[in-house]
Amino acid sequence: MNRRGYYGDFGGAFIPEILTATFDALEDAFEKAKGDASFWREYSDMMSAYSCRPTPLTFAGNLTRHFKGPRIYIKREDLNHTGAHKINNVMGQGLLVRRMGKSRVVAETGAGQHGVATATMAARFGFRCTVYMGEVDVERQRPNVFWMERLGAEVIPVKDGTRILKDAINEAFRDWAAHMDDTHYALGTACGPHPFPEMVAYFQSIIGKEARDRILKIEGKMPSRVYACVGGGSNALGIFSGFLDDPVDLVGVEAGGDGLETGRHASRLASDHGSVGVAQGYKTYFLQDREGQMKETHSVAAGLDYVGVSPILASHRETGRIRFEAVTDSEVLDAMSLTIKKEGLIPALESCHAFAQAFKEAPHLSRGDVILINQSGRGDKDIFTIADAFADPGWKRFIRRKGREYGA
Ligand SMILES: Cc1ncc(COP(=O)(O)O)c(C=O)c1O
Repeated sequence: MNRRGYYGDFGGAFIPEILTATFDALEDAFEKAKGDASFWREYSDMMSAYSCRPTPLTFAGNLTRHFKGPRIYIKREDLNHTGAHKINNVMGQGLLVRRMGKSRVVAETGAGQHGVATATMAARFGFRCTVYMGEVDVERQRPNVFWMERLGAEVIPVKDGTRILKDAINEAFRDWAAHMDDTHYALGTACGPHPFPEMVAYFQSIIGKEARDRILKIEGKMPSRVYACVGGGSNALGIFSGFLDDPVDLVGVEAGGDGLETGRHASRLASDHGSVGVAQGYKTYFLQDREGQMKETHSVAAGLDYVGVSPILASHRETGRIRFEAVTDSEVLDAMSLTIKKEGLIPALESCHAFAQAFKEAPHLSRGDVILINQSGRGDKDIFTIADAFADPGWKRFIRRKGREYGA
């Protein structure tokens, strides 16, 4: 970061004046917390007692033998409470909210993972919680809506725009602007105006710290490559942060959807379809048309289906420190099947993007190499999408029977 909130030419804080004081107070609380050694200790103790940290590195022996190439390790963020890395960020923000003396949190969610994590944090800290979710996503992700409501959150379906994640973000900002005194906006990824990208990356850096320590203990050397999927960029920044200063290839994998050539994807950095713009309070690569209207994105993984991307990643793309690739939905489903069958692991569809790219490259690496894949979440939440994709007949029968029981 060279100027306040800028990473190279990206980032910044393009916010209405009415929000300036709130952003300043947030930045101040974050800077004080970062400078206070006891804060990180409090954070990591809480994460170990509440969310099973440190999460292990699992050696994938069967996949290693299958590809006859590098030794493959998997960082198990799926073992976090609520099933994904999202909790790392929200629990950290929860500690900040308590320090700032606020009593309510709002959040946006697409796939629902961040919404569930925020509702969990709010229940644990005793905050009131409102989650904004595009109407389309509310329909797609009913199980997560169910859990958010059980956890005590109010889930508000957003009917504006294309009724997906970007519209939910706009609505969460509107709510925050109207209730700044008692409310904090717990943004779910390393995007948005400063200080959010830095703050979210800071809390997610726990992944990289643990992964680096552990791989050095097990293998006595650095991995050659580290793979992570890229939605907004938080899990990728988290794991990459442990290896940025080392001679390690860092590979961020975006949603190639139906294929880059079809235009139906969410690849802002690996494709040449992204262009630099300012939206939602920050400057980065967006999938937008010539007039700056945001385009529709597509991915089998709802958590990667976003038009913008972290300004920190955009800057690493410019410098060439991180390589970006995109894989298609069908490559993702193949990678998921292989991982389930060979290792008995069920990664989230988002995480399977990282697996798919690693599997493409593994046969070209040598047996002396070590690679690391971030399993950002678990795939249970994706049961409806995966059962559809594999046209599972038993699942269809089950859904039909349930439908009849509910009089559908
Ligand atoms: C399991 C999982 N992985 C990855 C992502 C993508 O987010 P990010 O790029 O911020 O890690 C999501 C978003 O919902 C997710 O649920």
